[in-house]
Amino acid sequence: MTKFFITTAIDYVNSLPHIGTAYEKIGADVIARFRRLCGDEVLFQMGNDEHSANVQKAAEAAASQGLDPKVYCDQMRPTFEQIWKKLNISYDRFIQTSDPRHHKIVYEFFERVNKAGDIYEKDYEGWYCESCEAFYTEKDLENGLCKNHQKKPTWLKEKNYFFKLEKYAEKLLRHIDTHPEFILPAKRRNEVVNFIKNGLEDFSISRSTFTWGIPVPLDKTHVFYVWFDALINYLSWLDLKSLDELKDNEYWKNVTHIVGKDITRFHCIIWPAMLMSANLPLPKTVFGHGFVYLRGEKMSKSLGNVVTPLDILGKYPDFGADALRYYLLRGSSFGDDGDFTWDGFIERYNADLANGLGNLASRILGMVWKYQNGIVRPDKEAQRTVKFLQGADALFKEVSSALDPEGGDISTHVALEKIWGHITQVDQFIDNQAPWKLAKEKKTEELSGVLTVLAEAVRQICVLVLPFVPAATEKIWNAYGFEKIKRLSDVRFNDLTILPFLKNEHQLAEQKLNLFPRIQIAKTP
Ligand code: MSP
Repeated sequence: MTKFFITTAIDYVNSLPHIGTAYEKIGADVIARFRRLCGDEVLFQMGNDEHSANVQKAAEAAASQGLDPKVYCDQMRPTFEQIWKKLNISYDRFIQTSDPRHHKIVYEFFERVNKAGDIYEKDYEGWYCESCEAFYTEKDLENGLCKNHQKKPTWLKEKNYFFKLEKYAEKLLRHIDTHPEFILPAKRRNEVVNFIKNGLEDFSISRSTFTWGIPVPLDKTHVFYVWFDALINYLSWLDLKSLDELKDNEYWKNVTHIVGKDITRFHCIIWPAMLMSANLPLPKTVFGHGFVYLRGEKMSKSLGNVVTPLDILGKYPDFGADALRYYLLRGSSFGDDGDFTWDGFIERYNADLANGLGNLASRILGMVWKYQNGIVRPDKEAQRTVKFLQGADALFKEVSSALDPEGGDISTHVALEKIWGHITQVDQFIDNQAPWKLAKEKKTEELSGVLTVLAEAVRQICVLVLPFVPAATEKIWNAYGFEKIKRLSDVRFNDLTILPFLKNEHQLAEQKLNLFPRIQIAKTP
């Protein structure tokens, strides 16, 4: 069994998830679920990025007396996890960077980098944006403001410890050139290559203006810069006795970091350089996904235009998670930017989930009850069933190649388009076969065969849509009684071609299924 390790960026805990940060977790979850269906042994890791001045400030502001930052971070963890669980993100591990396990690995890592002679001390001054946790030069700013936050950065002067990043420029370019799968999609690779070619500067790895962080062993008046410690999180939960074991770690050999386009550079330049310095193997792939905008605008607290998963789940508790997952992944490839509008969300939901998948599943369920008392019978004319369903194999191949990042991008929109095209075909098959006519004409054998094909089609569709809309899939699976044939958690893509209804009678479990009720178009909030 192939081991597959997938990580998302770890979130700053000082603001709650919005649909942009959720987009990343949803995309990663689809890949994780997809790889499990392929039979891989998946390790899916997410977590919180807890150090930095911002978090310290948020902790101070959190209660009238101020909270200890560690207490604050521990309190934020369940808040984040509840949101991710409500969105059905199937992570295996949730990490916190304030955990001593992580500190231990950071120390070991730093020791290796320091031994390699890549750390030095220097006085530094520059514009510092606290929200980005980054230093900027004059030319990086827009009218004197940070481009990302439209805030004036502060002029900071401090003694810092530096990492010799520039030293690794050539080696990085060579690695990128010889490993096309290292940075995906290709446009991100080009951005990174250009950035390196424009010249790298060594980067500062310590701060002394606040205390909430991991103390630097060389000088306890400094804490590590949050990015230096954060990147190392990917190694901290691999249960390594020492970093020497990393080169033999089967998960690390097949790791994909899923990160937003704004932080791809950290992952494709700083992180691999740090690993090179520590004499450790590099990750296989960094996938830089696009951003979700709100009506074309960047979401930001100061503009007051943030939509959160809780806004959606609050309005639509029964199906909001699937609806959001579907909407975000249907609009564009994972590598491209997407856009959220309430109108678009409702339109997509009504067309594809209420009228599409939801209607199909309840329509077929209703017919099997109406005409055969909820029993699906073995199809004597197996040929018809087999022929109709063979298409699922080809469909699976198309879906797999759309979702395979080595194809360049992760084309979730293409995968969904193909699957929903198939759903439309099944709908058309019903109209063509007209089971109601067969019933009227008492063609019971033929009717039974058609219903068998349809129940089987639903079973196959469940396997294909599981990574995208897991809550609805589970409801369909249970209503159709498929759990008796195979537990949903044990289903693999190989099951697509198995035709369980050819041999035995099968009793559906529930008589009604109301998955995705239509949303009446109302005024948008
Ligand atoms: N803590 C760092 C990551 C460290 S990883 C070692 C960070 N945190 S964040 O909370 O600001 O962002 C978390 C992730 O969400 C990042 O990958 C970021 O790119 C992503 N997104 C933030 N806003 C987003 C959108 N509007 N759309 C899509 N992804 C977005 O960066």
